[in-house]
Amino acid sequence: MFELLVLNGPNLNLLGSREPGVYGTMGLAGIEDKLQELALELDVHLQFFQSNSEGSLIDRLHAGIGTVAGAIFNPGAYTHTSIALRDAIAAVRYPVVEVHLSNVNAREEFRRTSMLAPVCAGTISGFGWRSYTLALRAVVGTIDDQTAHTHRDDQRLA
Ligand code: DQA
Repeated sequence: MFELLVLNGPNLNLLGSREPGVYGTMGLAGIEDKLQELALELDVHLQFFQSNSEGSLIDRLHAGIGTVAGAIFNPGAYTHTSIALRDAIAAVRYPVVEVHLSNVNAREEFRRTSMLAPVCAGTISGFGWRSYTLALRAVVGTIDDQTAHTHRDDQRLA
């Protein structure tokens, strides 16, 4: 069993009532319930954190060093603007999967640029709340692959 971080950025605390035509009607607590259900199945432990502030998100990423194996992260609008969050993700070294409820590539031009995508393990976008469960499966698979490699490398060195 390993620890994973589920990070949500600005305005995602308002999910459910915020632009439901774009983001759906499920609130953040509902998404966290879905993730918790899947976490039981995958045998992982989740730590949830939401903040509207860039600095708090950076601090939470830093706090994950040495304590979490990976993260899934919906950075909200910071996706498109934040070099500071990009640097934080690059610094922490554990895999981070970028998540979006909406298909950011099918929306306004400014949403097509992600400052964070180049330093993330991958991006899942456009599947509503299911983007989160897909991202959870993706990050667990990535960590399992890394662990298998490390194990194989250890065996080669022994
Ligand atoms: C979002 C997409 C962003 O462009 C937007 O600013 C959000 C939500 C999504 O989940 O689709 O706040 O990250």
